[in-house]
Amino acid sequence: MTGFAVVGLGMGRNRAKQVLETAGAELRVVVDLNEELAREVGEEMGSAYSTDLNEVLGRGDVDVVMVMTPSGLHAKIGVEAIKAGKHVITTKPMDVSTKACDELIDAADAAGVLVGVDYQSRYVDNNFRVAEALKQGLMGKPILGEVRFKWFRSQEYFEHGNGWRGTWAMDGGGSLANQGSHLIDLLLWFMGVPKTVYGETGIMNHEIETEDIGQAILNFTSGAKGGILGTTTFPESPYFSAEVHGSEGGVLVDSVLSGEIRVFGDGLEEKLQTIENPLANVVEDVVSALDRGTKLRVDGREGRRTVALLENIYRSSREGKVLDYSD
Ligand SMILES: NC(=O)c1ccc[n+]([C@@H]2O[C@H](COP(=O)([O-])OP(=O)(O)OC[C@H]3O[C@@H](n4cnc5c(N)ncnc54)[C@H](O)[C@@H]3O)[C@@H](O)[C@H]2O)c1
Repeated sequence: MTGFAVVGLGMGRNRAKQVLETAGAELRVVVDLNEELAREVGEEMGSAYSTDLNEVLGRGDVDVVMVMTPSGLHAKIGVEAIKAGKHVITTKPMDVSTKACDELIDAADAAGVLVGVDYQSRYVDNNFRVAEALKQGLMGKPILGEVRFKWFRSQEYFEHGNGWRGTWAMDGGGSLANQGSHLIDLLLWFMGVPKTVYGETGIMNHEIETEDIGQAILNFTSGAKGGILGTTTFPESPYFSAEVHGSEGGVLVDSVLSGEIRVFGDGLEEKLQTIENPLANVVEDVVSALDRGTKLRVDGREGRRTVALLENIYRSSREGKVLDYSD
């Protein structure tokens, strides 16, 4: 049985439940600085709870620490957990800078433990099928990959929890780094490494440090073109989509979190249906990696790529020019 601690109980509450529901995983303890919240979630899950990370890291029955705090704390808490001999999963994004991601990757390499990043859309069956189909060349020569979302986030959303959201230090950006990082991760999974990046970001309708709208034009090393568009200024949250096509077919993923798709091209739909996704979520993934030595779907190096592309987009936007992609 693999023992888990979940640290940070906003979205972490959902992940604690995921641990409870996963075979081979056991939720040992939930942690939050807010004692009332820690107690409430501990009682709800039937697990121990704590406000003291050090005490939790000293527990011999905790094998994996899931870091679900504000993004700018992921590497710091992850490195502390690794020093205590634990494996680490961070929620998305991995952290707010490639420098912080490197510290976490280096610590995990030195200790010989796992580090992974929880991008839930990687485990959605249809997203997995699209990635495999592209890898196997089932859509022919890759031509275009686009991700886009139009969502609503209120000013109150940014003011919650000491106002960490929408700051560079704790959120690593705005709509692109927070909500958009799911889509940027998918785009990189589908299309591979970028060659050039042009980004533009802005603040249209919120009082925040970072952006509530952002877009990027990409060229991939494969020769394919790409685009990213994301905003939290729309009056509702109508879509969250990824669209890819090649010379032989294409797929529109209308919602990457639920995996509703439309498929175009002769026989592509049937071929996609034969592709099986073996994993439901990151908790299963970690349990499988520890029990059977399988590779994590998003390990530290893979998780770092999204943060690197975000840095390129923000730099391009500041400098107002097309950049050669640098990781
Ligand atoms: N996978 C997803 O779909 C998804 C959804 C939402 C948020 N997230 C990610 O989860 C992270 C948290 O976002 P949120 O919306 O849950 O934030 P939140 O502010 O609602 O919750 C964060 C919690 O962490 C606690 N915390 C802060 N510092 C701590 C520390 N040092 N030790 C222990 N607890 C600490 C806070 O008290 C708070 O309860 C972010 O990185 C965000 O990007 C992922």
